Amino acid sequence: MAWLESPAQTSTALVRAATPDDGAAIRNVLLNSDLFGISDVECVDAMFVETWERPQPDGYRWLVAERAGAVIGFACYGPESLTQDTWDLFWICVASSARRQGAGRALLQAALHDALMHHARLMVIYTSSTPPYAPARQLYAAFGFKHVATVPDYYRDGDDLNIYWKRLR
Ligand SMILES: CC(C)(COP(=O)(O)OP(=O)(O)OC[C@H]1O[C@@H](n2cnc3c(N)ncnc32)[C@H](O)[C@@H]1OP(=O)(O)O)[C@@H](O)C(=O)NCCC(=O)NCCS
Repeated sequence: MAWLESPAQTSTALVRAATPDDGAAIRNVLLNSDLFGISDVECVDAMFVETWERPQPDGYRWLVAERAGAVIGFACYGPESLTQDTWDLFWICVASSARRQGAGRALLQAALHDALMHHARLMVIYTSSTPPYAPARQLYAAFGFKHVATVPDYYRDGDDLNIYWKRLR
């Protein structure tokens, strides 16, 4: 399943569609995120396995960012069921040692491009209000996503859900 017609090369990272062999590298990115733990790894693992074992046209889509041949980040996104062309960015993560060098930007750019090529109308992102997620919130704002809603104490007391929204067409 090649979702990008050709890998997207930026000055700092090469972004390509993931293959089933990328599961371990994606797990490694999460474990080197200084943010996510084993329950997050298990959740992403389950989504990754489902992608390849039960492929569906509206299933999860995966990109990886590579630098010097090593996977340093990934994104998971796709259409939201029961909506008309609304897509979600489910995960985006760059290993902590590889940050601030453009990989997050390259991944989000490629995900938005892929979504647009598949006639996505909106993209929506759920994220946390807490300080460790500030870089992600900045990234979304830099791409023109609007913070359209907050659900107080959604993740736990003091940790709100922030919903980001962008119209693609
Ligand atoms: C969010 C994340 C993917 C960004 O990846 P990255 O490769 O460091 O991002 P980039 O270098 O491409 O930066 C792109 C833009 O994001 C914003 N940004 C990224 N890191 C930032 C930081 N530490 N502080 C402020 N803004 C930041 C900036 O707008 C930046 O543009 P600029 O460099 O022109 O200022 C990365 O910080 C990460 O993996 N965070 C932990 C996981 C996470 O929170 N995921 C989202 C929830 S699932």
